[in-house]
Amino acid sequence: MPPAPDLTLGREQIARLRGELDLLATHSSTPPPGVTRILFTDTDLAGRAYVRHLMQDAGLTVVQDAAGNIFGRWPGTEPDMGRVGTGSHCDAIPHAGRYDGTVGVLGGIAAVRQLRAAGFVPRRSIDVIMFTSEEPTRFGIGCSGSRLLSSAIKPAALAQLMDEEGVSFDQARRQAGCTGELGDVPLGTGDYAAFVELHVEQGPVLEREQLAIGVVTAIAAPASFVITFRGAGGHAGTVLMPDRQDALVPAALLVCQAETLARTSGSDDTVATAGKLTVHPGAINSIPREVSVSFDVRDTDGAVRDRVVREIREQAHALAQSRGLEVEIRDINADPPQHADSTIVAAIERGCEHTGLPYRRLVSRAYHDALFMARVAPMGMIFVPSVAGISHRPDEFTSDDDIGRGVSVLAHVLVQLAR
Ligand code: HGY
Ligand code: MN
Ligand code: MN
Repeated sequence: MPPAPDLTLGREQIARLRGELDLLATHSSTPPPGVTRILFTDTDLAGRAYVRHLMQDAGLTVVQDAAGNIFGRWPGTEPDMGRVGTGSHCDAIPHAGRYDGTVGVLGGIAAVRQLRAAGFVPRRSIDVIMFTSEEPTRFGIGCSGSRLLSSAIKPAALAQLMDEEGVSFDQARRQAGCTGELGDVPLGTGDYAAFVELHVEQGPVLEREQLAIGVVTAIAAPASFVITFRGAGGHAGTVLMPDRQDALVPAALLVCQAETLARTSGSDDTVATAGKLTVHPGAINSIPREVSVSFDVRDTDGAVRDRVVREIREQAHALAQSRGLEVEIRDINADPPQHADSTIVAAIERGCEHTGLPYRRLVSRAYHDALFMARVAPMGMIFVPSVAGISHRPDEFTSDDDIGRGVSVLAHVLVQLAR
């Protein structure tokens, strides 16, 4: 087998990628340093146009499916074989950083540039994919593009998801220029022979252990749901305490109980987050009548996660009953954890060894599009360090050199998988 070409990114390639990440970050609906890029908004559409431009500029053939997933294809010499996919997302939650997802999309394009410059000719076609809305911000569910591609959600169920203005996913996608039918999006088995996602770690491990690369072995299982308490509400001055059915107090107690349940689950990997709280009518002198609180519960062990979810729901019913309130629970998602494919883990480790980079295996506690692509292809993920483990914050940061190292390893992995 011919020795793998040297695929290390030089200063010039790294500076180019840095410039592209910084330009993409200007497509934000909030001022710097944070980045906000919500699905199908003007800034998302501007970011999508820029990604398509970079794909075309790298010589990729660009197509977009009915859900807005964007594919930059490098046709292989044997185009009928299962393709090799890489990529991630470019949408960003409010006031986020500029690396979450974008390093995997722009880094994938940079890896293709590196391979073309080295004269590599793929046998299997290589796709760089920008998945539609990995973040749950607008329609409440994460990974909507990769979920549909992997048949983890039915087209009709995705189409009718509503945002807070009452706009459906189907309306929003059509307004954004996504044509075609959602029913044509799901992949067939064998469409992809492998999928590898480059992503920032969003955690502290690699920096703490001074390692360049994380080789992901598993992705934790996310579940999310919304619990709504309804009571009589009323005047803050005239309804005495024994007569109240305050809907906010049980919600607040439940948030505290959820924290305790996660801390005492017996698993260090259990996390529970109450990220969104809505209080109606939300007046200083009115007893809350209807309160909704969202919960995001995860663990690498699906059974532990499911037990904690069950316990939170049981507590919600007990609180409502003891206070004479109504309670409604709306499930959003409960996805199983996924394990990386051992052959792809080995390919990533070979890539690290070839480039002489220190690495370790680790679990991804964040979910990614790879969580769903794992349902239709052998999956792997490459992590690069996050400074202080910070993510989903404006001060999220990964250095140029760390990004460059991640792209070099990705390029090596693509050679192994596509030749
Ligand atoms: O929430 C997550 O794990 C991902 O960053 N959307
Ligand atoms: Mn994210
Ligand atoms: Mn991400």
